[in-house]
Amino acid sequence: MIPDFLYGTAWKEERTAALTELALRSGFRGIDTANQRRHYFEAGVGQGLAAAYRAGIVSREDLFLQTKFTYQAGQDHRLPYDPAADLSTQVAQSMASSLEHLGTDHVDSYVLHGPASPQGWSPYDVEVWAAMTKERDAGRTRLLGVSNVSLRHLQQLVASGAEPPAFVQNRCFARAGWDRAVRAFCAERHIVYQGFSLLTANPEVLASSLVRRIATRERVTPPQVVFRFALAVGMLPLTGTSDREHMTQDLASPSVTLSPDEVESIESMAG
Ligand SMILES: NC(=O)c1ccc[n+]([C@@H]2O[C@H](COP(=O)([O-])OP(=O)(O)OC[C@H]3O[C@@H](n4cnc5c(N)ncnc54)[C@H](OP(=O)(O)O)[C@@H]3O)[C@@H](O)[C@H]2O)c1
Repeated sequence: MIPDFLYGTAWKEERTAALTELALRSGFRGIDTANQRRHYFEAGVGQGLAAAYRAGIVSREDLFLQTKFTYQAGQDHRLPYDPAADLSTQVAQSMASSLEHLGTDHVDSYVLHGPASPQGWSPYDVEVWAAMTKERDAGRTRLLGVSNVSLRHLQQLVASGAEPPAFVQNRCFARAGWDRAVRAFCAERHIVYQGFSLLTANPEVLASSLVRRIATRERVTPPQVVFRFALAVGMLPLTGTSDREHMTQDLASPSVTLSPDEVESIESMAG
Protein backbone atom coordinates (compact mmCIF):
# COMPACT_ATOMS: atom_id res chain seq x y z
CA MET A 1 0.00 0.00 0.00
CA ILE A 2 1.35 3.42 -0.97
CA PRO A 3 -0.25 6.32 0.95
CA ASP A 4 -1.24 9.50 -0.88
CA PHE A 5 1.01 11.74 1.24
CA LEU A 6 4.48 11.28 2.72
CA TYR A 7 5.69 12.92 5.91
CA GLY A 8 9.29 14.09 5.49
CA THR A 9 11.63 13.98 8.48
CA ALA A 10 14.56 16.13 7.30
CA TRP A 11 16.04 18.95 9.42
CA LYS A 12 14.19 18.07 12.64
CA GLU A 13 17.16 17.07 14.77
CA GLU A 14 16.13 16.51 18.41
CA ARG A 15 12.47 17.11 17.54
CA THR A 16 12.47 14.21 15.05
CA ALA A 17 10.99 11.57 17.38
CA ALA A 18 8.21 13.79 18.71
CA LEU A 19 7.30 15.14 15.26
CA THR A 20 7.28 11.66 13.71
CA GLU A 21 4.94 10.49 16.46
CA LEU A 22 2.77 13.59 16.02
CA ALA A 23 2.60 12.99 12.24
CA LEU A 24 1.36 9.44 12.87
CA ARG A 25 -1.17 10.67 15.43
CA SER A 26 -2.33 13.24 12.87
CA GLY A 27 -2.95 10.51 10.32
CA PHE A 28 0.17 10.23 8.17
CA ARG A 29 0.99 6.64 7.23
CA GLY A 30 3.96 7.29 4.93
CA ILE A 31 7.30 8.35 6.42
CA ASP A 32 10.33 9.52 4.43
CA THR A 33 13.81 9.57 5.96
CA ALA A 34 17.44 8.90 5.02
CA ASN A 35 20.52 7.38 6.62
CA GLN A 36 22.25 10.73 6.25
CA ARG A 37 22.86 12.21 9.69
CA ARG A 38 23.77 15.56 8.17
CA HIS A 39 20.11 16.29 7.31
CA TYR A 40 18.14 13.51 9.01
CA PHE A 41 18.08 11.84 12.42
CA GLU A 42 16.93 8.37 11.34
CA ALA A 43 17.30 6.87 14.82
CA GLY A 44 14.94 9.61 16.05
CA VAL A 45 12.40 8.51 13.43
CA GLY A 46 12.71 4.99 14.86
CA GLN A 47 12.07 6.37 18.36
CA GLY A 48 8.95 8.14 17.10
CA LEU A 49 7.71 4.95 15.44
CA ALA A 50 8.33 2.94 18.62
CA ALA A 51 6.39 5.50 20.68
CA ALA A 52 3.46 5.32 18.23
CA TYR A 53 3.48 1.50 18.34
CA ARG A 54 3.54 1.57 22.16
CA ALA A 55 0.64 4.03 22.23
CA GLY A 56 -1.35 1.75 19.90
CA ILE A 57 -1.71 4.45 17.21
CA VAL A 58 -0.35 2.28 14.40
CA SER A 59 1.46 -0.98 13.84
CA ARG A 60 4.31 -1.58 11.41
CA GLU A 61 1.96 -3.14 8.83
CA ASP A 62 -0.04 0.12 8.61
CA LEU A 63 3.02 2.07 7.52
CA PHE A 64 4.97 2.87 4.38
CA LEU A 65 8.57 3.47 5.49
CA GLN A 66 11.04 4.93 3.04
CA THR A 67 14.73 5.58 3.58
CA LYS A 68 17.76 6.30 1.42
CA PHE A 69 21.35 5.37 0.63
CA THR A 70 23.55 8.48 0.43
CA TYR A 71 27.01 8.57 -1.14
CA GLN A 72 29.86 9.77 1.08
CA ALA A 73 29.96 13.09 -0.84
CA GLY A 74 26.48 13.86 0.54
CA GLN A 75 27.35 12.93 4.13
CA ASP A 76 29.27 14.56 6.97
CA HIS A 77 31.63 12.59 9.23
CA ARG A 78 28.74 10.56 10.75
CA LEU A 79 28.77 7.81 8.15
CA PRO A 80 26.51 4.74 8.33
CA TYR A 81 29.15 2.60 6.55
CA ASP A 82 32.87 2.02 6.24
CA PRO A 83 34.11 4.56 3.67
CA ALA A 84 36.97 2.23 2.77
CA ALA A 85 34.58 -0.55 1.78
CA ASP A 86 33.41 -0.98 -1.80
CA LEU A 87 30.08 0.62 -2.76
CA SER A 88 28.11 -2.64 -2.66
CA THR A 89 29.28 -3.22 0.91
CA GLN A 90 28.43 0.39 1.81
CA VAL A 91 24.87 -0.15 0.56
CA ALA A 92 24.51 -3.33 2.63
CA GLN A 93 25.94 -1.63 5.73
CA SER A 94 23.76 1.47 5.29
CA MET A 95 20.66 -0.70 4.91
CA ALA A 96 21.52 -2.77 8.01
CA SER A 97 21.98 0.45 9.97
CA SER A 98 18.65 1.87 8.69
CA LEU A 99 16.76 -1.26 9.71
CA GLU A 100 18.30 -1.01 13.18
CA HIS A 101 17.41 2.70 13.44
CA LEU A 102 13.86 2.08 12.31
CA GLY A 103 13.34 -1.08 14.37
CA THR A 104 12.12 -3.16 11.45
CA ASP A 105 13.28 -6.05 9.29
CA HIS A 106 12.35 -4.32 6.04
CA VAL A 107 11.47 -0.92 4.64
CA ASP A 108 8.85 -0.33 1.98
CA SER A 109 11.01 1.80 -0.28
CA TYR A 110 14.78 2.22 -0.55
CA VAL A 111 15.92 5.25 -2.51
CA LEU A 112 19.27 6.26 -3.99
CA HIS A 113 19.49 9.78 -2.54
CA GLY A 114 21.19 11.15 -5.63
CA PRO A 115 23.37 9.84 -8.46
CA ALA A 116 27.17 10.19 -8.16
CA SER A 117 27.31 12.84 -10.89
CA PRO A 118 24.84 15.41 -12.19
CA GLN A 119 26.04 14.61 -15.73
CA GLY A 120 24.59 11.14 -16.04
CA TRP A 121 24.13 7.62 -14.67
CA SER A 122 27.71 6.58 -13.88
CA PRO A 123 29.37 3.19 -13.28
CA TYR A 124 29.17 4.04 -9.55
CA ASP A 125 25.40 4.31 -9.83
CA VAL A 126 25.26 1.05 -11.78
CA GLU A 127 27.08 -0.71 -8.92
CA VAL A 128 24.95 0.92 -6.20
CA TRP A 129 21.70 0.20 -8.03
CA ALA A 130 22.69 -3.47 -8.43
CA ALA A 131 23.47 -3.61 -4.69
CA MET A 132 20.13 -1.99 -3.87
CA THR A 133 18.39 -4.55 -6.11
CA LYS A 134 20.11 -7.31 -4.11
CA GLU A 135 18.75 -5.78 -0.90
CA ARG A 136 15.28 -5.85 -2.43
CA ASP A 137 15.71 -9.47 -3.54
CA ALA A 138 16.75 -10.36 0.01
CA GLY A 139 13.48 -8.85 1.31
CA ARG A 140 14.96 -5.87 3.10
CA THR A 141 12.92 -3.45 0.97
CA ARG A 142 9.77 -3.98 -1.02
CA LEU A 143 10.46 -1.31 -3.65
CA LEU A 144 13.32 0.84 -4.99
CA GLY A 145 13.59 4.49 -5.94
CA VAL A 146 15.95 7.21 -7.14
CA SER A 147 16.08 10.85 -6.12
CA ASN A 148 17.46 14.11 -7.51
CA VAL A 149 17.55 12.73 -11.04
CA SER A 150 17.30 14.29 -14.48
CA LEU A 151 15.58 12.78 -17.49
CA ARG A 152 19.05 11.84 -18.75
CA HIS A 153 19.83 9.89 -15.56
CA LEU A 154 16.59 7.96 -15.93
CA GLN A 155 17.09 7.26 -19.64
CA GLN A 156 20.63 6.00 -18.99
CA LEU A 157 19.51 3.90 -16.02
CA VAL A 158 16.93 2.18 -18.21
CA ALA A 159 19.39 1.88 -21.13
CA SER A 160 21.87 0.13 -18.81
CA GLY A 161 19.42 -2.77 -18.78
CA ALA A 162 18.83 -2.40 -15.05
CA GLU A 163 15.43 -2.63 -13.48
CA PRO A 164 13.60 0.73 -13.52
CA PRO A 165 12.75 2.33 -10.15
CA ALA A 166 9.28 2.20 -8.63
CA PHE A 167 9.74 5.81 -7.40
CA VAL A 168 11.39 9.01 -8.47
CA GLN A 169 11.71 11.67 -5.75
CA ASN A 170 12.56 15.15 -7.06
CA ARG A 171 12.42 18.80 -6.08
CA CYS A 172 9.52 20.22 -8.02
CA PHE A 173 9.75 23.72 -9.49
CA ALA A 174 6.71 25.23 -11.20
CA ARG A 175 9.06 27.23 -13.43
CA ALA A 176 10.37 23.92 -14.83
CA GLY A 177 6.83 22.84 -15.69
CA TRP A 178 6.71 21.10 -12.31
CA ASP A 179 9.50 18.78 -13.59
CA ARG A 180 7.40 18.00 -16.66
CA ALA A 181 9.87 15.83 -18.60
CA VAL A 182 10.71 13.61 -15.65
CA ARG A 183 7.03 13.32 -14.71
CA ALA A 184 6.15 12.30 -18.27
CA PHE A 185 8.88 9.64 -18.24
CA CYS A 186 7.51 8.33 -14.95
CA ALA A 187 3.90 8.33 -16.14
CA GLU A 188 4.78 6.25 -19.21
CA ARG A 189 6.46 3.62 -17.07
CA HIS A 190 4.11 3.58 -14.08
CA ILE A 191 6.82 5.04 -11.87
CA VAL A 192 5.36 7.00 -8.95
CA TYR A 193 6.70 10.57 -8.91
CA GLN A 194 7.29 11.94 -5.40
CA GLY A 195 7.49 15.74 -5.30
CA PHE A 196 9.28 17.69 -2.57
CA SER A 197 9.76 21.42 -1.92
CA LEU A 198 6.33 21.90 -3.50
CA LEU A 199 5.78 24.91 -1.23
CA THR A 200 9.29 26.24 -0.64
CA ALA A 201 10.32 26.05 -4.32
CA ASN A 202 7.17 27.78 -5.53
CA PRO A 203 6.38 30.94 -3.53
CA GLU A 204 5.15 32.67 -6.69
CA VAL A 205 2.50 29.98 -7.16
CA LEU A 206 1.32 30.28 -3.54
CA ALA A 207 1.04 34.04 -4.00
CA SER A 208 -0.68 33.87 -7.40
CA SER A 209 -4.17 35.29 -7.76
CA LEU A 210 -5.46 31.98 -9.19
CA VAL A 211 -4.30 29.89 -6.23
CA ARG A 212 -5.50 32.51 -3.74
CA ARG A 213 -8.88 32.71 -5.45
CA ILE A 214 -9.32 28.93 -5.32
CA ALA A 215 -8.20 28.87 -1.67
CA THR A 216 -10.81 31.51 -0.74
CA ARG A 217 -13.56 29.67 -2.63
CA GLU A 218 -12.68 26.31 -1.07
CA ARG A 219 -12.07 27.81 2.39
CA VAL A 220 -8.58 26.32 2.50
CA THR A 221 -5.05 27.70 2.43
CA PRO A 222 -2.86 28.20 -0.68
CA PRO A 223 -0.54 25.33 0.44
CA GLN A 224 -3.55 22.99 0.44
CA VAL A 225 -4.38 24.06 -3.13
CA VAL A 226 -0.80 23.31 -4.22
CA PHE A 227 -0.87 19.85 -2.59
CA ARG A 228 -4.27 19.14 -4.18
CA PHE A 229 -2.85 20.16 -7.54
CA ALA A 230 0.13 17.83 -7.03
CA LEU A 231 -2.24 14.92 -6.36
CA ALA A 232 -4.37 15.85 -9.38
CA VAL A 233 -1.40 15.54 -11.74
CA GLY A 234 -0.46 12.18 -10.27
CA MET A 235 2.27 13.14 -7.81
CA LEU A 236 2.83 11.66 -4.39
CA PRO A 237 3.61 14.84 -2.40
CA LEU A 238 5.90 15.20 0.60
CA THR A 239 5.43 17.64 3.43
CA GLY A 240 7.89 18.23 6.22
CA THR A 241 5.75 20.50 8.32
CA SER A 242 6.55 20.81 12.02
CA ASP A 243 3.16 22.33 12.80
CA ARG A 244 0.23 20.28 14.11
CA GLU A 245 -2.36 22.41 12.32
CA HIS A 246 -0.46 22.21 9.02
CA MET A 247 -0.25 18.43 9.34
CA THR A 248 -4.04 18.26 9.54
CA GLN A 249 -4.45 20.76 6.69
CA ASP A 250 -1.97 18.94 4.44
CA LEU A 251 -3.77 15.62 4.99
CA ALA A 252 -7.13 17.27 4.24
CA SER A 253 -5.92 18.67 0.90
CA PRO A 254 -7.32 15.73 -1.17
CA SER A 255 -10.83 16.99 -0.43
CA VAL A 256 -10.21 20.36 -2.14
CA THR A 257 -12.10 20.61 -5.45
CA LEU A 258 -10.15 21.73 -8.52
CA SER A 259 -11.65 21.86 -12.00
CA PRO A 260 -9.66 20.36 -14.91
CA ASP A 261 -9.13 23.92 -16.21
CA GLU A 262 -7.70 25.01 -12.87
CA VAL A 263 -5.34 22.02 -12.79
CA GLU A 264 -4.19 22.90 -16.31
CA SER A 265 -3.71 26.57 -15.42
CA ILE A 266 -1.63 25.77 -12.36
CA GLU A 267 0.38 23.22 -14.34
CA SER A 268 1.22 25.75 -17.01
CA MET A 269 2.19 28.50 -14.56
CA ALA A 270 5.70 29.46 -15.52
CA GLY A 271 6.42 31.19 -12.24
N1 LIG B 1 15.54 13.62 -1.74
C1 LIG B 1 16.03 14.77 -1.33
O1 LIG B 1 17.15 15.16 -1.65
C2 LIG B 1 15.19 15.65 -0.45
C3 LIG B 1 15.51 17.00 -0.31
C4 LIG B 1 14.69 17.81 0.48
C5 LIG B 1 13.59 17.26 1.12
N2 LIG B 1 13.32 15.94 0.99
C6 LIG B 1 12.20 15.32 1.72
O2 LIG B 1 11.04 16.10 1.55
C7 LIG B 1 10.54 16.49 2.83
C8 LIG B 1 9.84 17.82 2.70
O3 LIG B 1 10.79 18.82 2.42
P1 LIG B 1 10.43 20.14 1.64
O4 LIG B 1 11.68 20.58 0.94
O5 LIG B 1 9.21 19.89 0.81
O6 LIG B 1 10.17 21.22 2.71
P2 LIG B 1 9.48 21.15 4.11
O7 LIG B 1 10.50 20.81 5.10
O8 LIG B 1 8.26 20.34 4.02
O9 LIG B 1 9.11 22.64 4.32
C9 LIG B 1 7.87 23.07 3.90
C10 LIG B 1 7.60 24.41 4.47
O10 LIG B 1 6.25 24.61 4.21
C11 LIG B 1 5.57 24.88 5.43
N3 LIG B 1 4.26 24.20 5.36
C12 LIG B 1 3.94 22.90 5.24
N4 LIG B 1 2.62 22.70 5.21
C13 LIG B 1 2.08 23.95 5.32
C14 LIG B 1 0.76 24.43 5.37
N5 LIG B 1 -0.29 23.61 5.28
N6 LIG B 1 0.60 25.76 5.51
C15 LIG B 1 1.64 26.60 5.59
N7 LIG B 1 2.92 26.20 5.55
C16 LIG B 1 3.13 24.88 5.43
C17 LIG B 1 6.44 24.38 6.53
O11 LIG B 1 6.31 25.24 7.65
P3 LIG B 1 5.71 24.68 9.05
O12 LIG B 1 6.71 23.74 9.60
O13 LIG B 1 5.55 25.92 9.87
O14 LIG B 1 4.42 24.05 8.69
C18 LIG B 1 7.84 24.50 5.94
O15 LIG B 1 8.40 25.74 6.22
C19 LIG B 1 11.77 16.48 3.73
O16 LIG B 1 11.47 16.37 5.09
C20 LIG B 1 12.47 15.25 3.22
O17 LIG B 1 11.88 14.09 3.77
C21 LIG B 1 14.09 15.13 0.21
